[in-house]
Amino acid sequence: MAVPFLKSFPRRRRVFSVVLLFTFIWALLPVESFNPPRRVLLSITKTLAGKSNIDVLEFIDPLIGTVNGGHVFPGATLPYGMAKPGADTNNYAEAAAGFVSDDSLILGFSQLHDSEDDFKKCRYVGADRAISRVNDSATAKPGYFAIGLNNSVYAEMTATAHTSLFRFSFPPEADVPYAYPKSGNEEILQTVPNSPLILLDLIDLGGSRSGGDIKVNMATARMEGGGDFRPSFGHGQYKAYFCADFQGAEIRRTGTFLRANATDGTQALGSTYGTTRLSQGSAGTWVQFAQAPQNQILARVGISFISASQACHNAEQEIGDFDFARVMTASQSAWRDKLSVIKADHTGLSIDLLKTFWSGLYRTMLSPQNYTGENPLWVSDEPYYDSFYCIWDSFRAQHPLLTIIDPETQTDMIRALIDIYKYEGKLPDCRMSFSKGYTQGGSNADVVLADALIKNLTRGIDWALAYEAVVSDAEEEPADWSISGRGGIESWRTLGYIPVDDDDRNGTGPLSRSISRTVEYAYDDFAIAFMARELGHKEDEKKYLKRSGNWRNLWQPEYEDRYQDGTTGAMLGSDFRGFLQPRRQDGTFSEQTARLCSPVYEQHICYFDTSQSTYEGSPWLYSFYVPHDMASLIKLMGGPELFVSRLDYFHSSGINYMGNEPNFLPTFQFHYAGRPGRSAYWVHQYIPSLFNSSVAGIPGNDDCAMGAFSAFAFMGFFPVAGQDVLLLTPPLFREVRIRTPDGRGWATLRNVNFDPEYKAIYIQSVKLNGKSHTKNWITHDFFRKGGLLEFVLGPQESDWGTQKEDLPPSMSTGMF
Ligand SMILES: *[C@@H]1O[C@H](CO)[C@@H](O)[C@H](O)[C@H]1NC(C)=O
Ligand SMILES: *[C@@H]1O[C@H](CO)[C@@H](O)[C@H](O)[C@H]1NC(C)=O
Ligand SMILES: *[C@@H]1O[C@H](CO)[C@@H](O)[C@H](O)[C@H]1NC(C)=O
Ligand SMILES: *[C@@H]1O[C@H](CO)[C@@H](O)[C@H](O)[C@H]1NC(C)=O
Ligand SMILES: *[C@@H]1O[C@H](CO)[C@@H](O)[C@H](O)[C@H]1NC(C)=O
Ligand SMILES: *[C@@H]1O[C@H](CO)[C@@H](O)[C@H](O)[C@H]1NC(C)=O
Ligand SMILES: *[C@@H]1O[C@H](CO)[C@@H](O)[C@H](O)[C@H]1NC(C)=O
Repeated sequence: MAVPFLKSFPRRRRVFSVVLLFTFIWALLPVESFNPPRRVLLSITKTLAGKSNIDVLEFIDPLIGTVNGGHVFPGATLPYGMAKPGADTNNYAEAAAGFVSDDSLILGFSQLHDSEDDFKKCRYVGADRAISRVNDSATAKPGYFAIGLNNSVYAEMTATAHTSLFRFSFPPEADVPYAYPKSGNEEILQTVPNSPLILLDLIDLGGSRSGGDIKVNMATARMEGGGDFRPSFGHGQYKAYFCADFQGAEIRRTGTFLRANATDGTQALGSTYGTTRLSQGSAGTWVQFAQAPQNQILARVGISFISASQACHNAEQEIGDFDFARVMTASQSAWRDKLSVIKADHTGLSIDLLKTFWSGLYRTMLSPQNYTGENPLWVSDEPYYDSFYCIWDSFRAQHPLLTIIDPETQTDMIRALIDIYKYEGKLPDCRMSFSKGYTQGGSNADVVLADALIKNLTRGIDWALAYEAVVSDAEEEPADWSISGRGGIESWRTLGYIPVDDDDRNGTGPLSRSISRTVEYAYDDFAIAFMARELGHKEDEKKYLKRSGNWRNLWQPEYEDRYQDGTTGAMLGSDFRGFLQPRRQDGTFSEQTARLCSPVYEQHICYFDTSQSTYEGSPWLYSFYVPHDMASLIKLMGGPELFVSRLDYFHSSGINYMGNEPNFLPTFQFHYAGRPGRSAYWVHQYIPSLFNSSVAGIPGNDDCAMGAFSAFAFMGFFPVAGQDVLLLTPPLFREVRIRTPDGRGWATLRNVNFDPEYKAIYIQSVKLNGKSHTKNWITHDFFRKGGLLEFVLGPQESDWGTQKEDLPPSMSTGMF
């Protein structure tokens, strides 16, 4: 079936936050003698073991991952906060989350200047007003972001849940020098009067606005408005509103601008105000102030998805006092509080490692975002979370992490997912800005729900409705399954796999990814079987367990690992044989080079519409994705020894790409073949070489998930999402403790013979609450009740965790 829109479907562009559309405030301003506050340096020297006065916020650098494709949002935000102010740059390829740590120009906060004090000479359009930053002036901390512009303005920002607060500082002189951009990199230095102009441009990063209204009050300079925008990785449109107020200087005049044309004769734009419907591009309001007596102007910007007046209400409620220090302190306390559930002994760890751990942990609480009370689509008493971006990425590590460190919020997220099902008819796989996002593989919210059920999240969760939702994923094909549910369900039922030549008559979606959809649907069915079992649906349990074995139908035992070298034409490869391969409706196998879409061979041709059988990964990678029956897979791959050498080869040959979430679990799958030491070995190969504290220190799109991977690895366990199984590797700390959900106890993981040089990384023996524990995994109970896990370490692999009875459970070896 032809799916025209997908032909030009963009490669996945996952944007961290789409809610800062209105923060393109730039202050005009002169002077270049202005000295930005000294960059706040980490005071990192006195962080000894057990000292209770360690402030973990000092180890959080939100700028990690702001280049090299990490797409991290480094601005100010509360945990799961909706308001996310930050600076936006013109490195469009990297700027999915706004800010980039390079020398690209700053679009938001660009200064407008005018040598004759004439607002008409200011530059209003996004690209024209871009200005360079003061080198190394970007400062980011939880709840705070600041940057110096090369025009004398120093911009700082902080946030409450729905409101951003900006503080712009200006030089004290009455006239200030200003480097006026001429053309290219040329600048002309002039002197201009110190009379700041701040404008608010109704535009978003993607330039997606249509329509919209905006007005400015001449007496107070309050600006209000909103517009229609398109989501960054999904369908449809959403409305967003703002309300901006200012403090700190006398208003000289106000007005509007349309593209480069500014006027003080009109104070409102948009069809609501009787002017023409706004076309795309820069449009907005501005205010010019007299010189600020304290050399500072505060701008408070409330946001809302309901209305502009709701945005004003949010701002007034949350930041009635314009007190920057108070808001910042409150935000930092909120972060300290969230992170206080983890106590780590920092002894022997480098600052680099500490920053990698704490910053990664911090990033796992940026999104999903709490939009409770801001949902324009339906009225409900349930919590509402948005920016599930995307569950394909987050179900593997981020949600299981939140289940341990923030179960209350994870519970609210589960309830929000169920409520989305209730009102929209399907669980999302990806959702942002109240819009349906693209489904990358299976219906992986099924795994999120099963994981929560296994781990006893209960408060207010309607499990009967949750079960209805996952069964709907499995049984009812939506008309457009590119944005929810599954496709090819009739083939799934009759053939037991998604055929490469599927002719789905029930719905529309990209008929690609037959291997990756097959393995994901199989595991999603396993998750449903588990829920059926817990909730007493016996027949369903059998049915879905059977279907969870469907991955076998694509196993091609003879398929060889061969590929052609692009330059020499030589056939290369390895001796490993047997891979998942695409299969036709008639049962015959088609073929996809096993390494296709790995870093070593045509990495970037496996997306929705690229007609390949895998998504963002190779058959090599997807052939390991059988989390519920690794024992069967190991057999098919020739037994434990061959499996271990295959998995080692996967990690050592360049086929593995750690910058994507499906690649997390294979780091730990040695456990299933009785070699937990190899998992520990690979953890240390990737940390810190790929996960570190540099601005480039994330190997791929963060998605709030990369930090969950490193956080788990540091703490000494990794979840098999959707099962009550956590695989053990030694913590990278001498000791780490996680508070139990009731707040009364601790789950402590402690290394005996801890070696901060990481030469002794192999577990020799383990004691759980004083008793020998030979299994190489534990259950969630440990984190619920608390307890003590002690690892004795040594420089060589040992027998620990290697015996059949020590392995994590598999379907074929009696998991149920
Ligand atoms: C700022 O950094 C850029 C790139 O690193 C460099 O080209 C430029 O000369 C620096 N500017 C100043 C004023 O140091
Ligand atoms: C800032 O402006 C000055 C004056 O025009 C210029 O010499 C300098 O290179 C600029 N710095 C950057 C980083 O562009
Ligand atoms: C501004 O608007 C006027 C009147 O509509 C038009 O003549 C002029 O070309 C516009 N200027 C710019 C820079 O767009
Ligand atoms: C989510 O937002 C609502 C409404 O603002 C608030 O009542 C609730 O406490 C928030 N939840 C969390 C976990 O912060
Ligand atoms: C597909 O369509 C047929 C015919 O309308 C219907 O009977 C069947 O239930 C549909 N299958 C799914 C999975 O929705
Ligand atoms: C840090 O991580 C990045 C991204 O994964 C990597 O390219 C870089 O080499 C690492 N740096 C160090 C010093 O290991
Ligand atoms: C969930 O609760 C049940 C009953 O209270 C208990 O038996 C089980 O161990 C708990 N599971 C986890 C993972 O905490």
